[in-house]
Amino acid sequence: MRVTLIAGNWKMNNTHLEGMRLVQQIGHEIADVNPQKVEVAVCPPFTALRTIQTLIDADRYDLVLGAQNMYLAEEGAFTGEISAGMLKALNVTYVILGHSERREILGENDDEVNLKVKVAYGAGLTPIICCGETESEHAAEETRSKVERQIQAALAGVGPDRVRSAVIAYEPIWAIGTGQTATPKEAQTTVAYIRSVVSDMVGADVAGAMRLLYGGSVKAGNAKALMSQPDIDGALVGGASLEAAEFSAIVKAVT
Ligand code: PGA
Repeated sequence: MRVTLIAGNWKMNNTHLEGMRLVQQIGHEIADVNPQKVEVAVCPPFTALRTIQTLIDADRYDLVLGAQNMYLAEEGAFTGEISAGMLKALNVTYVILGHSERREILGENDDEVNLKVKVAYGAGLTPIICCGETESEHAAEETRSKVERQIQAALAGVGPDRVRSAVIAYEPIWAIGTGQTATPKEAQTTVAYIRSVVSDMVGADVAGAMRLLYGGSVKAGNAKALMSQPDIDGALVGGASLEAAEFSAIVKAVT
């Protein structure tokens, strides 16, 4: 049984004070949602993690914490970077790795994503590995080859037990922050393909157990149609995760 995961990626938005308000609102809105049916994660910027963690613990919200990135080494002379161990010490559960904004804007490559996946597991974090094609790759029908390459690279040398717990988010780049989404059928086709790629790498049993998300302009109005596809186990939500009512409505739409 794959438990639905709805993860809010705040990106570079919200100070820790603004984040507190947002989490309090979300916490109240989803108070009646059964956490056995849907797991809800918030992924604030690094500077808000400590505050949000304290708030979640103090008010007992059914929310888990995720980070948006980490560095690929365990520790050392890497000025300005944040380690997986530092995130783990803050009760962080998930870490988003290989988001297209990091790949496209900050030049992160497949090998770095793979290293980060291994270091994340080493520290006890669960990666949410992102993949997806650009608009021109989409037009050229290169979606499958792109996500296949990204997933094979990200999971290279990662053992089946770890892969089983990993989360993969399929996020077509042309759908991120644009208001355009893949149709539920199109998203299902690509997500099912990703599952088959994982299956070829580590077996159908592991691939069948891991959770695959869709991301890219998910809103309350389209969440249900996307999440009811057989291989789509949740969503990575950007813009809509910054509004408590909209994000909570997405959570409720899938329960
Ligand atoms: P969006 O972002 O929901 O604003 O399209 C999704 C993401 O980048 O994870």
